[in-house]
Amino acid sequence: MSNYIPEPFRIKVIEKISKTTPEEREELLKQAGYNLFAIPSEKVYIDLLTDSGTGAMSDNQWAGLQTGDEAYAYCRNWFHFEETIRGLTGLKFVIPTHQGRVAENLLFSAVVNKGKFVLSNSHFDTTRANVLANQGVPLDLVIDEGKNLDFIHPFKGNIDLQKLENAIRHYGKENIPVVILTVTNNSGGGQPVSMQNIRETKALLKTYDIPLFLDACRFAENAYFIKIREVGYQQKTIKEIAHEMFSYADGATMSAKKDGLVNIGGFIALNDETLADRLKEHLILIEGFITYGGLAGRDLEAIARGLKEVLDEDYLEYRIGQVKFLGDMLEANGVPFIKPTGGHAVYIDARQFLPHIPQSQFPGQSLVVNLYRRAGIRAVEIGSYMFAHEDPNTREMIYPDLDLVRLAIPRRVYTESHLRYVAESLIELYHDKDSLKGMKIVAKGESSLRHFVARLIFID
Ligand code: F0G
Repeated sequence: MSNYIPEPFRIKVIEKISKTTPEEREELLKQAGYNLFAIPSEKVYIDLLTDSGTGAMSDNQWAGLQTGDEAYAYCRNWFHFEETIRGLTGLKFVIPTHQGRVAENLLFSAVVNKGKFVLSNSHFDTTRANVLANQGVPLDLVIDEGKNLDFIHPFKGNIDLQKLENAIRHYGKENIPVVILTVTNNSGGGQPVSMQNIRETKALLKTYDIPLFLDACRFAENAYFIKIREVGYQQKTIKEIAHEMFSYADGATMSAKKDGLVNIGGFIALNDETLADRLKEHLILIEGFITYGGLAGRDLEAIARGLKEVLDEDYLEYRIGQVKFLGDMLEANGVPFIKPTGGHAVYIDARQFLPHIPQSQFPGQSLVVNLYRRAGIRAVEIGSYMFAHEDPNTREMIYPDLDLVRLAIPRRVYTESHLRYVAESLIELYHDKDSLKGMKIVAKGESSLRHFVARLIFID
């Protein structure tokens, strides 16, 4: 039998994708202010903007939609949803939200205020923004190896326990309402966190009485990496591994748009009843009743089914293998990216790709725009354009450690030949890299999520 791993599914429904001409794309880019978020999706050939909410549901999930009970309170799908999440995480109280950032909003608006610090391996942009919106300070304490793009380490998403302890001592445990581990670490390359690191983080936090939360969007991909890379887990099922990961957590926020294998949905689950009651009250104000949280009954059903499907090892082997396939093609042609490849995306190192463009001119954004311009592929910049900001005191610009371009792969959507096209387009662009120019922002919003709305131009 061949060692080759094909998709572990057959395709029953297809969706047409359309090519555009280079002239059309040039015009579309101008209209969009060179912001790829503003390009109509039908004008994108291969969309790798995000793996969030862009996956394909299974026949079983679609069938589940038909069983939606759309009663306002305590619909049957809620019970299935709650039971599935309790069974998966072992956490007692489950609060549905329509996506991950609402779970973050609920949590941080309850526990963060001025003078508070939230410590993490790395905050994702919405997580960071929610901490900041509540006047807290988000601090990223990923291990140094996690910032070294070429360094091969099995768990580059780990939090640095020494830095964590130093930060707790420095800022005072009373000023740290929660520590949040992002699994896998999206901002740092989709890199996993080891079980040992989760366990030791919990042990340390216990001595200071600080709760540990998981940002669990990609918990199943993380669990798969633990299975194949961490000693002692090869014989365990993904479900057992996931269960152990959650057993160290006092709570979890999750965007089900990733490893929930759905197009919309999320939740927060936690053990603290008093806090859960507060969050539920707030939920009613901003999302809806406590058993639907901004979702339809049918959405709850699709999530419950998705959370079970995602534990399938054949699926995860194919999924992680697909990301690696793209990475391997790029590596063979010298395109610089974060190694090893992560769980849901390949992250190109834009500064190495375009060494002639300084951080202040957003090398990653230039790469993203040129990839769309040439090949109709949409990726996302995660670097200076997204994160650089002015220090409020010194007015100096603070730049992030990494300038990345993420090629996020939607779940169960694209085949190997789509990815081959992506790799070949990028390799071509790499050969022509010296002709790419830097960019500057000409209009931006005031929030820390400016990258969604800003407009840019090329610098001549
Ligand atoms: N946490 C992580 C690690 C994420 O990657 C995301 C979303 C969220 C929280 C927020 O979830 O979108 O449902 O509100 N990440 C998407 C992405 C947007 O493209 O990586 P959400």
